[in-house]
Amino acid sequence: MKKLKKFNRIALVIIALGSFLLFAFTLPQEQKTPEEWDIPEEYQTMENPYKDDNSLDRIGKMLYAKHCKSCHGNKGQCDGPKAKQLETWCGDFTAEEFQNQADGVIYYKSIIGRDEMPNYESKIPDAEDRWAIVNYIRTLDD
Ligand code: HEC
Repeated sequence: MKKLKKFNRIALVIIALGSFLLFAFTLPQEQKTPEEWDIPEEYQTMENPYKDDNSLDRIGKMLYAKHCKSCHGNKGQCDGPKAKQLETWCGDFTAEEFQNQADGVIYYKSIIGRDEMPNYESKIPDAEDRWAIVNYIRTLDD
């Protein structure tokens, strides 16, 4: 009898510990706030050759839907279907702080990327297409 009681106690401890670990690892983790980007000088001063070029509106919207919307979402507020699975929050394109950045900086973040933000240099090789996306992101300012 004594032995059985001891066994029960050990089993209980194991079950308690096991459920705790399971709980701890399945709980959604807080998303990380992005750290400052290190943007090379040449991008900070890069001119947008397609600024105010409305002829790219449709292509920009289409490319955004194809490549970016799954994470960044319809509203550009990190509201896409994949957004919740990201370790790092993917930003708010409607925010004033975001929109205050230079075109070249948005271009760098969009095309070169880093970590969970994919690199699109080979997927979007055309300069016109790249700037079309930057211009589209500019329209998400609410
Ligand atoms: C797989 C999900 C995913 C996709 C797809 C994706 N991004 Fe991102 N994006 C992220 C994440 C995560 C970050 C934040 C990364 C960081 O700060 O380290 C980010 C950051 C950014 C930023 C900087 C945001 C800020 O607050 O300064 C821009 C701009 C951006 N992405 C543009 C794009 C564009 C344009 C596309 C499509 C061509 C795209 N992203 C596709 C996940 C994604």
